[in-house]
Order: sequence, then structure tokens, then C-alpha cells
Amino acid sequence: MITDFSQRLIVQEVSPRDGLQIEPTWVDTADKIALIDQLSLAGFSRIEAGSFVSPKAIPALRDGDEVFRGIRRQPGVIYVALIPNLRGAQRAIEAGADELNLVMSASQTHNRANMRMGCEQSLAGFAEVVSLASGTGLSLNGSIATTFGCPFEGRIDEDRVLQIVDAYLALGMHGISLADTTGMANPRQVFALVQRVLTRVPASALTLHFHNTRGLGLSNVLAAYEAGARRFDASLGGLGGCPFAPGASGNICTEDLVNMCDEMGIETGIDLAHLLTMSRRLPELLGHEMPGQVAKAGRNRDLHPAPENLPG
Ligand code: COA
Ligand code: ZN
Repeated sequence: MITDFSQRLIVQEVSPRDGLQIEPTWVDTADKIALIDQLSLAGFSRIEAGSFVSPKAIPALRDGDEVFRGIRRQPGVIYVALIPNLRGAQRAIEAGADELNLVMSASQTHNRANMRMGCEQSLAGFAEVVSLASGTGLSLNGSIATTFGCPFEGRIDEDRVLQIVDAYLALGMHGISLADTTGMANPRQVFALVQRVLTRVPASALTLHFHNTRGLGLSNVLAAYEAGARRFDASLGGLGGCPFAPGASGNICTEDLVNMCDEMGIETGIDLAHLLTMSRRLPELLGHEMPGQVAKAGRNRDLHPAPENLPG
């Protein structure tokens, strides 16, 4: 197989949602808006800017309405809102979201832990969201959490995932995301599943969402890219994680992903220097170090002066 590296890789930035949802430190609404406004200038075409879930479930994002109303929208950027139910969809539409990201887990147990309901109930709610959104021009994306493994149930059967993809398409979703909620995916598994899903969904409508919990995040990106996937979620600094999945940790790190693409000659359209400047401010905002690597190491081209007195 020969991979065509001239195919652009689209990065959807998710730090304002997945990144902040698990942070113990409260981030002021103005700081969230400033983060999104800066991200909007980095070259992303898609930013998941928040969620409209129960404020008791995710207190860190309870100000989603004000955040969406406060951001300075850049033309060409799609601002996505994660929602769990009809109430979330109503709030997101009122706040001006461009796209709704409807989330359910492949695993019943994780869906009950995360959404407090079974998968059938989630799907019934999504049907109501589809009715609400019909005729509005709003784009709908269906995410499948725990696609590659669940911290409660273990490995998820591929056919189970494909059934949910089919159910989402039958409902009328425009896009599909396969989410590796706690970094259980491996490149071989990713390659196989992406190939199968791409027989149902065009690459332009498929997103892969990886967490780096077991260090396989960027390997999984490459496996998915080689199988034909083109859209990937990533989070500035490598922030992120689901508070209702034991052992969850950060998304793949945006600047590490963009650096890899830059070095490999895969176009992303994203300004790495701008990202690095932003990422290096995160420890001050959140009070801890970031898991991302390139913000600490610098780019390959950020060379150091040679030591003095080298032997001749
Ligand atoms: N936005 C704001 N409030 C909401 C809401 C939404 N989308 N959906 C429900 N609520 C409120 C209800 O009004 C109710 O409020 P009250 O207690 O003041 O009356 C409360 O939340 C409980 O509502 P209920 O329908 O009984 O929900 P629940 O307690 O069974 O929880 C979810 C179900 C889906 C709302 C909740 O589990 C949730 O928000 N999960 C999302 C978790 C998440 O974001 N995980 C990470 C991303 S995948
Ligand atoms: Zn995630």
C-alpha cells in the first residue's frame, strides 16, 4: 500500500470542550472566550467550543450559552456544540452553534455512567433532536464514545459500532465520529474499523477522536489516515478526558499532531507557531503542566547554539 501524503488532514480543535470539561480549576467565561478567539485565528476550520449538558454533570462547562454568544466568529470556522439530549440541542441552537455533536457510547455501561441512560433512550432523544433541527440548516454529527474499548466492558465488537453508524445515518446525521474515550485503540484495530466505516460514510464526513491515554494516539492517527480517514479531533496541550470514564486522560495533543504533519509534509493549514504560543500559556491558566511534547521540546527547526569549546 502506498499512502498519498498530499491529502490534507483536517484538525477539529476540541480543547474548549473535551479539554476543559475535566479540569478541576474553574476557567472564567472571558478566558474561555479568549481561548476560542485565539484558536479561531490559528487556521482551524472546526472548533468544538463547548457542550450543553447538565451543569451538575459537567460544572466546568455550565457557561456554554454565554461562551457561544461571546466568541468572535471567524468566517470559515464551524463552531460545534456537544449535546446529550433535546434540552442540550435547544440551548445550543439558541446560543448559535453551527453544528450539534450528539454523543452516545457503544458500551451500555459507559452510556449509563456518562449519560445516565441506556443507548436506546439516547437514540430516542436523538430522533427528537433531528426533528428539532430539520429545516434549520444545522449540521448534525453523531459521536460513538468507547468505539475501540470501554473501561467497564472492555473490547467493543466492530459490528456493534457499525450498527450504531447505520442507526445514526438512518436518523439523518451528516457526520460520524468514532471516539476512543480512554485510549484503548491500537493502530491495527483502527485501520480495520476505519476501512469498514468508510464503505458507509465518505471520508469528508468521518472524524476520528483519539485520546493518548496509553501512548498510541498519533500511531492511531496514522493508521486511520492510511485507511483513508482525513478528519481528527485534537486538543491544545493534550488536555481532555471524560470525567465518567475511570482512568481517562488527554486527547491527542493538537500541536504534536500538527508538528508531525508538518514534518511529514501532510498539509493541515494550521499555524504551529501560533499553537505553541497558546499552549505555553495553558499551565498558567490551569495550574499544571500539559502532557503535550512539542511545546516543551520545540520544533525540529528551533535549533540550539552549539556548546562552546567543542573539540576540533
Ligand atoms: N442542559 C442543561 N440542563 C440539563 C440538560 C441539558 N442538556 N439536560 C438535563 N438538564 C437538567 C434537567 O433540567 C434537570 O435539572 P434539575 O435537577 O434542576 O431539575 C437535571 O439536569 C437532571 O435532568 P435529567 O433529565 O433527569 O438528567 P439526568 O440526571 O438523568 O442526566 C444527562 C442526563 C444526559 C443530562 C447528564 O447525564 C449529562 O448531561 N451528561 C453529559 C456528561 C458529559 O458531558 N460527559 C462528557 C462528554 S461525552
Ligand atoms: Zn474525548
